Amino acid sequence: MAKSEGSISKLCLVCSVIVNLFFGVNLYVGRRGLWGWKWSSDEANVRGLSWSGRAAAEAESAAAQECSGHGRAYLDGVVIDGRPACECNTCYGGPDCSLFLPSCSANADGGDPLFLEPFWKQHAESSAVVVAGWHRMSYSFSDQTTLSKELESLLRKLHSLVGNAITDGKYILFGAGSTQLLNAAAHALSPHNSSLPATAVASIPYYALYQKQIEFFDPADCSFQGDPARWNNTTNTTGDIIEFVTAPNNPDGQLNEAVLHGPNVKTIHDRAYYWPHFTGIPSPADEDLTIFTISKLTGHAGSRFGWALIRNEEVYQRMDRYLELNTMGVSRDTQLRALKLLKVIIGDGGREIFEFGYKTMTKRWARLRKTLSMSNRFSLQKVPPENCTYFQKVREPTPAYAWVKCEREEDKDCFEILNVAKILGRAGSIFHDDSRYVRLSLIRSDDDFDVLISRLKSLISGEDGAKIMRF
Ligand SMILES: Cc1ncc(COP(=O)(O)O)c(C=O)c1O
Repeated sequence: MAKSEGSISKLCLVCSVIVNLFFGVNLYVGRRGLWGWKWSSDEANVRGLSWSGRAAAEAESAAAQECSGHGRAYLDGVVIDGRPACECNTCYGGPDCSLFLPSCSANADGGDPLFLEPFWKQHAESSAVVVAGWHRMSYSFSDQTTLSKELESLLRKLHSLVGNAITDGKYILFGAGSTQLLNAAAHALSPHNSSLPATAVASIPYYALYQKQIEFFDPADCSFQGDPARWNNTTNTTGDIIEFVTAPNNPDGQLNEAVLHGPNVKTIHDRAYYWPHFTGIPSPADEDLTIFTISKLTGHAGSRFGWALIRNEEVYQRMDRYLELNTMGVSRDTQLRALKLLKVIIGDGGREIFEFGYKTMTKRWARLRKTLSMSNRFSLQKVPPENCTYFQKVREPTPAYAWVKCEREEDKDCFEILNVAKILGRAGSIFHDDSRYVRLSLIRSDDDFDVLISRLKSLISGEDGAKIMRF
């Protein structure tokens, strides 16, 4: 009797092992990732999840790719040997980005805000988004709009806690970055029944896109005419004037204010950089038309998400119509991403991200100032300290860009001087200013910034009369 019970239990054990092996192998072989490799059931069945487990394992696997701290691999990157390849920072190469390329130029050109990448790596869990294959396939939300109400409400909450804009009594529109909204705004503020086109202006130095957009799209009702100084006595002009006001300004970080006022003046306030990373927040913006972007708030320039706060209903309707005809609203996937990122920021009242951003920018400015203080040849812009209602103190501004001036009489082309020294900046002439100026981006990756400082030190140490550097 006891012997047959023992045989039965052994038989059960063997059957159970066979059944488990069968299902285990089936599960293992059946699961193939994006790049064709197989997942173990443990990897795929994260905490009992069903359809999202494999996607999560794929995302983690790409993120775990070893790129020596000088690059990263993305889920949608080029696949080499069945895995997404490392994409290296400027001046680094090799399969794992471990190779420093000593003769390369420092890239201080574009405004890629990768200085915030380490923050999001520290918050990988709270900021990750899982997008189901059937996520929001419709053209519209169930209320027939193209805007997420939840995202709109988070944006209002964010402005209220940062204190950088009043949203009460304002309409909100979303755009594919502030780039799309700037054009929608210029369209909405241009006259429609007048034979006289509006004149668009921006104070020098200004962000080149304003002019480029108007000239490229060439609307019949608006033309770009440069600096507003020559339009100052607007009461004498008959046509409408649209002034772009950028605060803080790109390239020089000044908290610009409108130059023109009057019944025929309309203002587009571009506040891409009005966040505590870059400037004190003296008071909340309460303007008729203000444009923001996550590009310089969270650093997600690639997600293409911006928003406009609009007081006037007719202007709102006209911008809305433009956005509808142009793209039928902002990608729902992007809205989901923005929602997730804003939740992380709002979760602790913005403390962590703004402290991280402010600290990073402060350290970078300190290094840059120290380096340039040894030079008689180059100078930096001066931006006055501002009261910051967010940090509750008066603080030095930490603009996104250095606006460098070549002081020597003979150094007329500052961009070229730096270019020869292997520093790629953006020429002052692009901002319609003197070519004695160059903009250097300070918001790129740590690697970009380190190479920039190293190239500047080499350039300055070769200067006649340079002060001795002790770093
Ligand atoms: C002043 C200013 N406005 C707008 C933009 C465009 O931002 P977005 O990425 O939202 O299109 C930039 C980008 O650098 C900028 O500097």
